[in-house]
Amino acid sequence: MLSTSANWCLGTLKAYCGADDDFDELVVSNDDVVLRNIAEDLRNRLPIEAMFTSEHQAVQKIHQHPLPMIHVDAFLYDDDVVDSLCEEGKMSRSYCTECGSYKTASLEFISHSFSLMELKFLYHHVLPDLTGKVVVDVGSRLGAVLFAGYLYSSASQLYGVEMNADFCQLQEMMVTKYEFIDRIKVVHADICTQPSLLQKADVVVMNNVFEYFLDRQEQARAWEFIACNVRKRGSLLVTVPSLEESLSKLQVNIQLSQWAEEVQLNYDVYMEKDVDREALEQIHLYKIL
Ligand SMILES: C[S@@+](CC[C@H](N)C(=O)[O-])C[C@H]1O[C@@H](n2cnc3c(N)ncnc32)[C@H](O)[C@@H]1O
Repeated sequence: MLSTSANWCLGTLKAYCGADDDFDELVVSNDDVVLRNIAEDLRNRLPIEAMFTSEHQAVQKIHQHPLPMIHVDAFLYDDDVVDSLCEEGKMSRSYCTECGSYKTASLEFISHSFSLMELKFLYHHVLPDLTGKVVVDVGSRLGAVLFAGYLYSSASQLYGVEMNADFCQLQEMMVTKYEFIDRIKVVHADICTQPSLLQKADVVVMNNVFEYFLDRQEQARAWEFIACNVRKRGSLLVTVPSLEESLSKLQVNIQLSQWAEEVQLNYDVYMEKDVDREALEQIHLYKIL
């Protein structure tokens, strides 16, 4: 169902140069290389858990979790990088359940960003052609959704709204360094102060935005604000997890069936090896009614 900037450009280029599949591969993987470079760049500027001390609430929530859990940012650390870090003794996939013994259990990993695989699925298989469209990533953190949108789509503007100043600075640095300034804008703000941005968006992306960062009352208020302002008929809303799951834990006054309709996704369409289907199935797409 989709057509991305890479595909659209290729279509154009092929018409002129008669390029074949090898060329197609080359162009697509070039974008992947840029995205990987950005991830490496960010890894070098962040502590290994990729969190700032300014994120008190998120740090506290992770510590309150009943079982040991570590934060491994999936955009920065893919499985191969995690394996290398484990070999170097800098990271572990398991923890000792009884000090001194060989009894160990698997650690729960939590990521605050989409992985490269999820980003490619999003722009290549979830969203339609975004030529001339406005994308808003609510809680843009490292900027992964924005950078991938720049490389993998023809969206005319990609806005990231992030309430944490440290992450905004980091995103700005990457936008300047990689010369994304013509189409990416980072807004340092609470999303609840940005009604007009949400009202003009053609696509709104919400990847686990509030759960770890706001208390329940704040989450309910933020969702009600989103439901009031993401209203453009036919616009798209991408969420992780599903709207039903996020809202079921909160006391909110939102008539879901009158606001948005879920669009069924084909999770089998993504044929790359090592695909994490469970992660892809967390991605949901809705059309605003
Ligand atoms: C899980 S991260 C999402 C990262 C990114 N969108 C991605 O998919 O890779 C959620 C981010 O939302 C931010 N956030 C939470 N509540 C927010 C709010 N009310 N306004 C703006 N940003 C918010 C947090 O600071 C955090 O960086």
